[in-house]
Amino acid sequence: MRMYDLIQKKRNKEELSNEEIEYMINHYVSGEIPDYQMSAMLMAIFFNGMNDREISTMTNAMAKSGDMVDLSSIEGIKVDKHSTGGVGDKTTLIIAPIVAYYGVKVAKMSGRGLGHTGGTVDKMEAIPGLRTNFSQEEFFDIVNKTGISVIGQSGNLAPADKKLYALRDVTATVESIPLIASSIMSKKLAAGSDCILLDVKTGNGAFMKNLDDSISLAQKMVTIGENCGRKMVALITDMDIPLGNNIGNSLEIVEVIDTLNGKGPKDLTDLCIKLAGNMLYLANKGTIEECENMAKQAIENGYAIKKLIEMVEAQGGDIQYIKNPNKFTKSKYSLDIVLEEDVQGYINYMDTEGLGIASTMLGAGRETKEDSIDFSAGIVLNKKVGDKVKKGDILCTLYTNDYNRIENARNKVKNSIIVRENKPKEIPLVFARVEKDKLQKF
Ligand code: URA
Repeated sequence: MRMYDLIQKKRNKEELSNEEIEYMINHYVSGEIPDYQMSAMLMAIFFNGMNDREISTMTNAMAKSGDMVDLSSIEGIKVDKHSTGGVGDKTTLIIAPIVAYYGVKVAKMSGRGLGHTGGTVDKMEAIPGLRTNFSQEEFFDIVNKTGISVIGQSGNLAPADKKLYALRDVTATVESIPLIASSIMSKKLAAGSDCILLDVKTGNGAFMKNLDDSISLAQKMVTIGENCGRKMVALITDMDIPLGNNIGNSLEIVEVIDTLNGKGPKDLTDLCIKLAGNMLYLANKGTIEECENMAKQAIENGYAIKKLIEMVEAQGGDIQYIKNPNKFTKSKYSLDIVLEEDVQGYINYMDTEGLGIASTMLGAGRETKEDSIDFSAGIVLNKKVGDKVKKGDILCTLYTNDYNRIENARNKVKNSIIVRENKPKEIPLVFARVEKDKLQKF
């Protein structure tokens, strides 16, 4: 078999056989297929797509390229969750403690920031002392003891995805349904949970910018998971507006703590109740309505925040920061972005990807793989889409420890927030829900 012929086939819009797809993935991981040939294949897939059989075969080959984690030594139903990536998306650290309180086990491997989107592992490392990298044995022990542990992706989990993702990131081939579906589902299948909730983001801050593509992506991932014996649900949720008010690692941890203490922003709290409700539903804890009520109660009665504290302690983090979030170090510099124009109106539009990029420019994300993160850098939004504003109002505040970063970030933020006289249409938090053979639109 020759990679050249496979590239030519896909370029000519022909189907690849299962053997061809397995050859391509295995020989790319082993280094026998060079990046330049795989880049050409990725671009051919980007333009010409793949059918469901091709996507499933590629996903399985990618999942089996490394360790397939066996979670059977953890008792009970294991539920995983994955977001396709967004700005201000800190839901994992809110919903995992909620469902763990009800006895659902969460043994989760999470990623770092990617492009303009943040990553759970980077956010967790903003908590002093907290470890996100330890042996599988210790990981299982913590889940058995506390019901929950979140760690970084182990080196040998779906290595094909690791290599392909790095290549897609630099060849403009990220926003492709077959490539995103196989990337996410290969990791989820390898990670071993019984049930998987997918949070498929849609909107200007997501990789999938329109609703139809997001639904199609969700349906493909649900089908792949169900065909591999996993119970699946996907929610298609908004990413036209950043989630919550805080963007940036320790700023987001503070918002996680506020939300678990019942004082979080409404959009973030409501979405977390829906996500946690669906995780509890997947674990057979009741109807969706009952499960959402259970999620609310876990916040109200203070048990979910106790679960977060248990997890942080078990992973070596300093729990005083969770008990008293004022302890988080503030950045050296801050700058209010004030509405200077003489207008009265509403925030009509936010370029959410632009705000994610601005947060990275302030130091909250990496520009190159080698960069270290400024945990206290980021943006706190004071106004969001639909809020009334007038001249002199503070729209948001920028935080950084590197003064030289402020000017560029300020310009990016100013261009990302649009004020107009008319009030924009309200955007729902959840657009659709996908289960096996079922699509509900809201
Ligand atoms: N998240 C992933 O893990 N992979 C993608 O391709 C996109 C988002």
